[in-house]
Parts: sequence; C-alpha cells; structure tokens
Amino acid sequence: MIIRAATYSDAGDIFRLLSGFVMSYRPDRAVFEDVTFPRIIEAAAEGRAEFLVAERYSRAVGYALALRMPTLFAGGTILELQELTVDAPLRGGGLGSALIRAVQASAREGKDVEVTVPTRRAADFYRGLGFHETASYLKWPTT
Ligand SMILES: CC(C)(COP(=O)(O)OP(=O)(O)OC[C@H]1O[C@@H](n2cnc3c(N)ncnc32)[C@H](O)[C@@H]1OP(=O)(O)O)[C@@H](O)C(=O)NCCC(=O)NCCS
Repeated sequence: MIIRAATYSDAGDIFRLLSGFVMSYRPDRAVFEDVTFPRIIEAAAEGRAEFLVAERYSRAVGYALALRMPTLFAGGTILELQELTVDAPLRGGGLGSALIRAVQASAREGKDVEVTVPTRRAADFYRGLGFHETASYLKWPTT
C-alpha cells in the first residue's frame, strides 16, 4: 500500500469511494467530473488542499481531502479535513490511519497551525490519532 497525491486518473475510483461514503448528499457524476474533481485537483496543485489516496493493487482504495484555510485568529493556515473514506472491505486494516498520518505530515511540512475535522461518526478514530474535541460544527444549507 502506498499513500500518494491524487491525480486525474483516480477520478473513477474516487467517485466510487465518494458514492459509498456520503450520506447527506447524492454525488452527481457529471458535476464531479466537470466541476468538483478538477477544482480540487487544481487546489491541491496550488497548495490550497491536500488530496491523498491510499493505493493498493494499482487502485485507489481510500482517500483523504483536507482544505488549507487562511485564518486571522490562529495566526496562520489551518488544514481542515473534509472527506476521508476507505473501501468497506478494507476497513480496520490501517489505511485510514495511514491517510491521516500523511495529512498530519503535510500539515507540519506546510507549516499549518493545526489540523481540524468535523465528524459525527468517527470521533474515536481521530482521538486515537491525537485529535481532541474543541468545538461543535453547525451548518446552514443555502437551498
Ligand atoms: C473512518 C475510516 C476512514 C477509518 O479507516 P480504517 O482504515 O478502517 O481505520 P484504521 O484501520 O486505521 O483504524 C484505526 C483504529 O480506529 C478504529 N476505527 C476505525 N473506524 C472507526 C470509527 N468510525 N469510529 C471509531 N473507531 C474507528 C479502528 O477500529 C482502529 O482501532 P484499533 O487501533 O484499536 O484497532 C473508515 O472506517 C471509513 O471509511 N468509514 C466510513 C467513512 C467515515 O466515517 N469517514 C470519516 C468521516 S469524518
């Protein structure tokens, strides 16, 4: 297994992983291919995001997406993890931890102040990797 930056050729695998992961939204293939996926690849190329995949047998079997946000209050950038998933049959094998450790290493390298993650389902997973609770996360949908 290797952890590496996502590329355009991972689009099919990442859409499959995304579709198995999101619960509150229904991913649209055309929007993903034409808008969101290329936008995230571009953000990562410009250092505004970390977009990593876990590759096994030449396939992406997990991915992590974190966005690098400039702040005033923290005196620098914060890396916020927005998406993390591993193929269901491979869960429990260390891939998720490997992706998060790679995100943490990128944060150190990128001189981010901290890594944050909003989560409902996996708080104990993150606690095991050194995260601690700091705030609740609210949202206001525009539609
Ligand atoms: C959360 C997820 C990415 C973890 O990936 P993984 O490869 O299964 O994780 P690991 O094998 O590295 O697990 C490390 C430890 O965390 C625990 N763990 C894994 N998922 C967990 C969860 N959802 N909640 C609590 N603990 C969890 C594992 O049991 C393991 O514990 P151990 O070290 O005592 O054995 C994966 O379960 C997943 O894709 N879940 C569905 C999507 C999801 O919930 N994503 C998080 C959104 S914020």
